[in-house]
Amino acid sequence: MRAAMISAFEGPRAVTVDDVPTPEPAAGAVTIDVQYAGVTFPDVLQTRGLYQLRPDLPFTPGWEVAGVVREDAGAFRRGDRVAAMPVVGGFAETVNVVPDMVFPVPDDVSLDVAAALPLNYLTADFALRRRGGLRAGECVLVHGAGGGVGTASCQMAAALGARVIAVVSTAEKAERAEQAGAHDVVMADGFLERVRELTDGRGVDLVVDPVGGDRFLDSLRSMRPEGRLLVIGFAGGGIPTVKINRLLLTNTSVIGVAVAEFWRVEPAFARSQWDAIMPRVRAGELAPVVGNRYPLSDISQALQDVDERRSAGKALIEVRQRP
Ligand SMILES: NC(=O)c1ccc[n+]([C@@H]2O[C@H](COP(=O)([O-])OP(=O)(O)OC[C@H]3O[C@@H](n4cnc5c(N)ncnc54)[C@H](OP(=O)(O)O)[C@@H]3O)[C@@H](O)[C@H]2O)c1
Repeated sequence: MRAAMISAFEGPRAVTVDDVPTPEPAAGAVTIDVQYAGVTFPDVLQTRGLYQLRPDLPFTPGWEVAGVVREDAGAFRRGDRVAAMPVVGGFAETVNVVPDMVFPVPDDVSLDVAAALPLNYLTADFALRRRGGLRAGECVLVHGAGGGVGTASCQMAAALGARVIAVVSTAEKAERAEQAGAHDVVMADGFLERVRELTDGRGVDLVVDPVGGDRFLDSLRSMRPEGRLLVIGFAGGGIPTVKINRLLLTNTSVIGVAVAEFWRVEPAFARSQWDAIMPRVRAGELAPVVGNRYPLSDISQALQDVDERRSAGKALIEVRQRP
């Protein structure tokens, strides 16, 4: 089969597409013929050996996929349409995945939509509902709002009845954030002033931050008393620090969000999240904002586009030609 390959931790440019043996069905795994794979930021980190999980070289990256079950395995039947999170191995024509990370896809949900959902939407769900305790009527500020986690967070927050202010760096990303349901969009430069204007000086209830870096302090300043800031990632590179007397003096909270670590402790939780979001997907309330689509042969380019901040919305790999 064809599969992407990381043979050295030298970044997205060094990722190749090679002919490799098709994995044999394994006990305790579901074998999936992959139609689409989502491109995630952790895939980019993996090309440099910077992700928490660092397999021995060479290996095939690929966090999330959608496709068809190859043969009966546990509760899954040959031919079932599924999405899955193999974490590694997804940028390949076939992959084995543990059953807890395999999710049924209803007939009325297309496989490209399904491939764009798992990591971003289950992260947004975990962040907003479980960690952030978002309530209808609250105001949410979303950084990196034109990106993968960002568009998912805008959409999920809006679906839960929140007002959403999106922070982006380009007009194209502003468009993606609006497509995802953001009520207002502001540019990253000078976002604090605009947020104060938009909230009549009151500030926001919740900040979703997958970017980190030097905007963190202004994010804290953008919150009302008892506001909560969700630390999701550091796409901007820098890991910010905060003197905790600021949290005391402003009655605010900084909350960690690490969904994959949570799934390791509670493996059944991912499936329960999938089942919870699926009615909103089927109703069209949650519809991933898909950006660029690439054939598997262009996986290196796809990873470079995410790495170099060019990607807007969710990037998808078309792994197999459609039947
Ligand atoms: N904690 C968790 O459970 C969890 C789960 C999934 C992902 N994550 C993390 O969340 C972060 C975002 O993931 P994603 O899939 O949304 O990525 P993405 O689609 O690439 O979006 C990230 C956004 O960050 C902004 N950004 C600012 N400076 C950047 C830079 N130097 N390089 C790249 N982007 C930059 C960009 O928006 P602007 O250009 O508009 O500023 C970009 O759209 C990553 O760090 C990822 O590892 C965490």
